[in-house]
Amino acid sequence: MEYIIKKGVEDAPVFILLHGTGGTEESLLDVGKVLDEEATLIGIRGNILEGGYPRYFKRLEEGIFDVEDLNNRTIELHEFIQTLVERYDLNSEKIVLIGYSNGANIGIKLFLDYPTTYRKGILFHPMYPVKIADTQDLSQTKIFTTMGKMDPIVTIEQSEHVLQLFKERKAEITEEWTQGHQLTYPEILKAKEWLA
Ligand code: MLT
Repeated sequence: MEYIIKKGVEDAPVFILLHGTGGTEESLLDVGKVLDEEATLIGIRGNILEGGYPRYFKRLEEGIFDVEDLNNRTIELHEFIQTLVERYDLNSEKIVLIGYSNGANIGIKLFLDYPTTYRKGILFHPMYPVKIADTQDLSQTKIFTTMGKMDPIVTIEQSEHVLQLFKERKAEITEEWTQGHQLTYPEILKAKEWLA
């Protein structure tokens, strides 16, 4: 997978930055810097191209995920993150997943499938329209999320579904409501407060 790494200070958080549809490994670097200027920043580009726009997994249409592809791409992304942890001798305890939109959505899948590896994250404007069979215990997971009251892509019901999914599994989830789907500076500052 294509990636970029900016090594930070020893013992600072390690941010895994997962962009929205049409982004690249560089899209969230500035957001990462605002969140913590000492953090190690790792941006990873999604391997799927939809009409030329990178994303992390296929979808059948807006809001309908290709679940089989989501499963396979999540394994691929997890394995890639583990390769980077070894290559750069990173402390995996310090990992914070930070995703926007499509990146937040595959972030949710990483939290569900690898709850002992990924325990902390920021999900900007996620949705998760997928049935989940198991009831994973996520009592060690801490999430900050932002959701738009008038998001043209994610309905309020879909946002509430994401909150429910984490609450049912006993994760600690902090929510912040904004207007639309776009990632705004004030919500990045709220996420920074939460991290601190
Ligand atoms: C998705 O497909 O992950 C969501 O619709 C968000 C998006 O990328 O537009």
